[in-house]
Amino acid sequence: MRVSLVVNGKPRSLDLDPRTTLLDALRENLRLTGTKKGCDMGQCGACTVLVNGVRINACLSLAAMHDGDDIRTIEGVALGPDELHPLQAAFLERDAFQCGYCTPGQICSALAMIEEAKQGQPSNAAADLAAAPTLTDAEIRERMSGNICRCSAYPNILAAIRDVAGPK
Ligand code: FES
Ligand code: FES
Repeated sequence: MRVSLVVNGKPRSLDLDPRTTLLDALRENLRLTGTKKGCDMGQCGACTVLVNGVRINACLSLAAMHDGDDIRTIEGVALGPDELHPLQAAFLERDAFQCGYCTPGQICSALAMIEEAKQGQPSNAAADLAAAPTLTDAEIRERMSGNICRCSAYPNILAAIRDVAGPK
């Protein structure tokens, strides 16, 4: 079947087996291999991408469900050819990875997570569900808990996200 996506701002049209996941469409058909396949079953977050600004696990979603959707992957996160997104810069500055396999998913997830908090969406760590969220360390940990790091770089991942989004 034909599926049309807008990926990192570019319209893309694909002929796909209807069973193709969004993750496989990105990696295998569009050769955007920055998005990683860790578990392929929704447990690790390595495949996190943004769909219309919302983070999802691309391994759990069929590409055909996203006809017409706006998809942002790690390849579309930088602000320009020579300008990293502040989160990317913070991950480098804080040495927030070891093997780097989880990093694209961590950064895409953090991008959306910061927007969720700005929009006032509460997390399980919120003491007051009605209050505007502050991205304390506990909030960041909770909101990023769907992204697993096998190298256990969590302290530096937390520090990088806190640099960009935490209380000043
Ligand atoms: S590869 Fe999708 S959650 Fe692990
Ligand atoms: S840096 Fe290796 S899995 Fe996170």
